[in-house]
Amino acid sequence: MGREFLDIFTGWAKDYDTFTTGSDDQYKEVFRGYDGILQTIADCSGSHVIEFGIGTGNLTKKLLAAGRTVYPIEPSEEMRYLVAAKLPENIEIIDGDMQDFPLPPFKVDTIISSYVFHHLKREEKAEVLTHYFDLLEDGGKVLFADTMFMDHAFYEEKVAEAARNHFYGLKADLEREYYPMIPDLYHQFNDAGFSVSLMQMNTFVWIIEGVKEAWQPPKR
Ligand SMILES: C[S@@+](CC[C@H](N)C(=O)[O-])C[C@H]1O[C@@H](n2cnc3c(N)ncnc32)[C@H](O)[C@@H]1O
Repeated sequence: MGREFLDIFTGWAKDYDTFTTGSDDQYKEVFRGYDGILQTIADCSGSHVIEFGIGTGNLTKKLLAAGRTVYPIEPSEEMRYLVAAKLPENIEIIDGDMQDFPLPPFKVDTIISSYVFHHLKREEKAEVLTHYFDLLEDGGKVLFADTMFMDHAFYEEKVAEAARNHFYGLKADLEREYYPMIPDLYHQFNDAGFSVSLMQMNTFVWIIEGVKEAWQPPKR
């Protein structure tokens, strides 16, 4: 079911970058500091990376510029077509999604995405986190930037604020997609085996990092 929002991106693909640069009032805060958010993920990533939902390739370009080996995965045919023109010719963009994807021909140390994880339902998030944990070697990590909320009251406040501002597109988006509550997401990462850290990037977007720690013998 993780591909249920793909039609939105088929329609959005051509104009997507005007949103990331803050030209749309409704999404201005969601994308505030977008470039720095992507750069933080690129800086914190390891050398061999799976990137899910590459969209128009803005994070992929930063990863390549930082010398990472990237396996870029994108389910939208429209996005794959548009982004191919922005990336070097030797980069193959893989048709797949966060749940269903062919494995790369190399060992992966980092699994990343920006503005994508909320497309999965709660139980789908738990399933993929367990799968990613199994895929990674010790020391490997998951790094996701996405909209998430500290608690339900703050989420309701943001929905009400969107309505007050007549931001009906943003309101519908917040109500339609599966934006997680941070304490719950934290536990989902823990339950999959990751140790977790979080960094707030703007009112909506946080970066969550889950590290697969090397096993340590218990201290005596
Ligand atoms: C909001 S855009 C983010 C694009 C890019 N990562 C960025 O930071 O600008 C979401 C992207 O995720 C893709 N997507 C939607 N559902 C997905 C899924 N289940 N698995 C992977 N990617 C998905 C969409 O096609 C779209 O390209």
